[in-house]
Amino acid sequence: MMKSERAKFGSKLGIILATAGSAVGLGNIWRFPYMTGENGGAAFILIYIICVLFLGMPCMISEFIIGRNAAANTARSYRKLSGGTPWMVVGYLGVLTGFLITGYYLVVSGWCLEYMYASIVGHLHGDPGFFKTYFETFETDPLKPVLWALAFVAVTHFVVARGVRGGIEKASKMLMPALFILLLVIVVSSCLLPGASAGISFLFNPDFSRVDGDVFLGALGQSFYSLSIGMGCICTYASYFGRDTDMPKSAVQIGVIDSIVAVLAGLMIFPAAFSVGVNPDSGPSLLFITLPNVFQQAFGGIPAVGYVVSLAFYALLSLAALTSLISLHEVSTAFLEEELKTTRRRAAIIVTVACGIMATFCSLSLGKYDCLQLFGTPLFSIFDFFTGQILLPVGGFLTCLFVGWYLPRKLVYDEFTNRGTLHSAVFGFYMFSVRYVCPVCIILIFLHQFGII
Ligand code: PHE
Repeated sequence: MMKSERAKFGSKLGIILATAGSAVGLGNIWRFPYMTGENGGAAFILIYIICVLFLGMPCMISEFIIGRNAAANTARSYRKLSGGTPWMVVGYLGVLTGFLITGYYLVVSGWCLEYMYASIVGHLHGDPGFFKTYFETFETDPLKPVLWALAFVAVTHFVVARGVRGGIEKASKMLMPALFILLLVIVVSSCLLPGASAGISFLFNPDFSRVDGDVFLGALGQSFYSLSIGMGCICTYASYFGRDTDMPKSAVQIGVIDSIVAVLAGLMIFPAAFSVGVNPDSGPSLLFITLPNVFQQAFGGIPAVGYVVSLAFYALLSLAALTSLISLHEVSTAFLEEELKTTRRRAAIIVTVACGIMATFCSLSLGKYDCLQLFGTPLFSIFDFFTGQILLPVGGFLTCLFVGWYLPRKLVYDEFTNRGTLHSAVFGFYMFSVRYVCPVCIILIFLHQFGII
């Protein structure tokens, strides 16, 4: 009874766009281009693609298998499949991770809205120092960033409360093409700038001499975060897949879309930055200090063009953040809806209020509130570090062990191959990855992050 009532995505395209929407996010834009530029250009891109294929794909397919087979929220899926053994903790951990990521992700998403607004009203012009002051004043303001984050969670709520097909799938089908169009418009504008070719060759010139163990592990970690692996998003979305969904093929398509967006983000940033002689960095300062300055200098000859490019850029960031946030919100909403046996609307309201409160604290922690800091580190950065560097790898690692070593091989085989009808030739390869390659790689990323290797 419960099973037949469960929502499903309506089309293959909906599945791909919604899941790719989760994957394509701020991580593609604020980290990937910088890592590529720093770590040998095309050589890094090649390594990254290998990581996506050999680590990201098996992990993603493992989450697909759990979600689709159990057809329930992440916590219940692990609980069902683990038969009440301690493995079920992994599911709860996934829900918790998703919830905590929302806290700081919402804050940055809110910043994108402020910068969209600032682009429209023409506030974003001045010397390089101006952009630094503008951002620092804004991010530490007790009110403005909080209001923008709350506006963002309200928009996310609006989509998630409408359900899987009418909300998430419909929104993804509109937002993802819009994101692509904006991306292409900015890439073309950036690549047409005088001196842009230096940026293009910096990005694509393969320099294998820069590639070492660090670069490899950096690429591994980035592929993991960028594909939204290691917490409940992929598993929750997979619980809305149909029995006939070709999961290995979908995973590859999502990986390809995510990687294309990441490379295009590089083509958007480097040519513009090189054309005005600015060195791009990464993280919030890239998005909110360096790039507004770059766009103003590069396109400011005709101010209207500068405004339009800057507006397009922050609209693009907001869309990328929104599709990721929808998936994060959905993890907790699906959890509460099923565990509290309540309506989706009510579950979504609880999640929205809780996320709003958490984002408020995260945002305020960047201001003068010492009580929201731990040893001088703001709550915002603690959430970021704790989820990205600890919970995601731990969740991914345990998921691989769960699927590779605990679940009955027959169940995994049936899900991977749609009961023996698809891709059975590569099943052995998948099992080998998920049992040995992925867990070992994740341990290495983990140790590397803490400077142990
Ligand atoms: N994949 C998203 C990005 O690239 C981040 C994210 C991680 C979103 C985990 C949801 C879950 O920004």
